[in-house]
Amino acid sequence: MVNTKEKKVKSKNTNKSTKLNMANRVNKPTESNKPDNISKISKTNKKKTKLMNRTTFEPRILAFCCNWCSYAGADLAGVSRIQYPTNVRILRLMCSGRIEPGHIFSAFEAGADGIIISGCHPGDCHYISGNLRAEEMITKLKKLFNIIGFDERRLRLQWVSASEGQLFADYITEFVDLIKSLGPNTLKNHQQLKKTTNDNINLQRNDSGVVVE
Ligand code: FES
Repeated sequence: MVNTKEKKVKSKNTNKSTKLNMANRVNKPTESNKPDNISKISKTNKKKTKLMNRTTFEPRILAFCCNWCSYAGADLAGVSRIQYPTNVRILRLMCSGRIEPGHIFSAFEAGADGIIISGCHPGDCHYISGNLRAEEMITKLKKLFNIIGFDERRLRLQWVSASEGQLFADYITEFVDLIKSLGPNTLKNHQQLKKTTNDNINLQRNDSGVVVE
């Protein structure tokens, strides 16, 4: 017969060996927790997240369309039942030249992932040169985006006439695909845009309506 003392000693020994085994399991470098493998795993996780973004991310696109050409073009696309992604929300303006930098900053801060400004083709603007003013402002804004490290491809200017419904749909489809590949807007609810514009660059219109720095 085994007495109680021997039993206690045996159980202590088994406890010790289990603890040692556990410690070995934790500290022992396995294939998965080697530093090289960890970095590989994090890289593949990042790739997976990017892929998931591309497949599950539905961007919010804002399109500023001028009343006389682009809005009519968008309308034609709708009437002709031309399919294009539903990610876009259209805002009608009388002319693309009516857009101020503040509109664009506010839209990005409020969560737009991409913005399209669409107006009449050069020479067709109903207010003579409103579209050229818009073009000038966007060129300057893109420079500013490059300075602050914001992807300028999120802002696009596109000429669409009233008869170009198919072209409008194509532009939207292509832009949505691009924004999906770029991922969500990182400046959502961010103060960086506002701060940079306030501190460094003053994009305003003078009395004659021309954008000045
Ligand atoms: Fe269309 Fe000016 S009226 S861009």
